[in-house]
Amino acid sequence: MKVSIRPENKNDYPIISMINDMAFGQENEGLLIEKLRKNKSFIKELSLVACLGNEIVGHILFFPVNIKSKEKTFKTLALAPMSVIPELQGLGIGSQLVQKGLAKAKKLGHESVIVLGHEGFYPKFGFKTAGSYQISAPFDVPENSFMALELVKDSLSTVEGTIEYPKEFNEV
Ligand SMILES: CC(C)(COP(=O)(O)OP(=O)(O)OC[C@H]1O[C@@H](n2cnc3c(N)ncnc32)[C@H](O)[C@@H]1OP(=O)(O)O)[C@@H](O)C(=O)NCCC(=O)NCCS
Repeated sequence: MKVSIRPENKNDYPIISMINDMAFGQENEGLLIEKLRKNKSFIKELSLVACLGNEIVGHILFFPVNIKSKEKTFKTLALAPMSVIPELQGLGIGSQLVQKGLAKAKKLGHESVIVLGHEGFYPKFGFKTAGSYQISAPFDVPENSFMALELVKDSLSTVEGTIEYPKEFNEV
């Protein structure tokens, strides 16, 4: 199902929260997005909505996070959260959001993306398990669910460290 994808605007905020609540069956992700919007690192162009006509049916957010080692800090993006309304899941809308989001992130100069999510979904966009790189999650996760993607070739080849999420991720 073909959707049009555009950056969020102010009028979309309530519906974005609602779609996340519906997709996840809880309010945490909607609340997380509301909190992240107040963080100065929030990138409006990387909070994207999928529209069928005038109706928003999906959302994806890419938020800056650090890959931190003792010596160095590298910037990357976390793909989180992402949602499609339950009635329209499995029709390719999520895939279009990921593809458009990755292209936009690359265009804005970002070099890599990490994600914690369904291991059957993200590899088709080029994500590899983070264990393929020297990157680890700050909490226990199933090994194959934590993945990373280079938007720029070899951008993660010398990067080492643990992901540092902004505090908002721990507050919901
Ligand atoms: C994940 C989500 C955003 C994908 O959007 P979508 O429009 O359904 O995605 P697409 O139609 O492009 O692709 C469907 C793929 O999603 C994956 N997927 C969706 N839900 C899944 C689940 N619960 N477990 C495993 N894989 C899942 C499958 O790999 C599926 O691939 P397939 O069609 O080859 O079986 C959507 O299903 C959703 O909102 N789910 C609930 C919220 C959620 O889990 N968000 C993501 C957290 S990482």
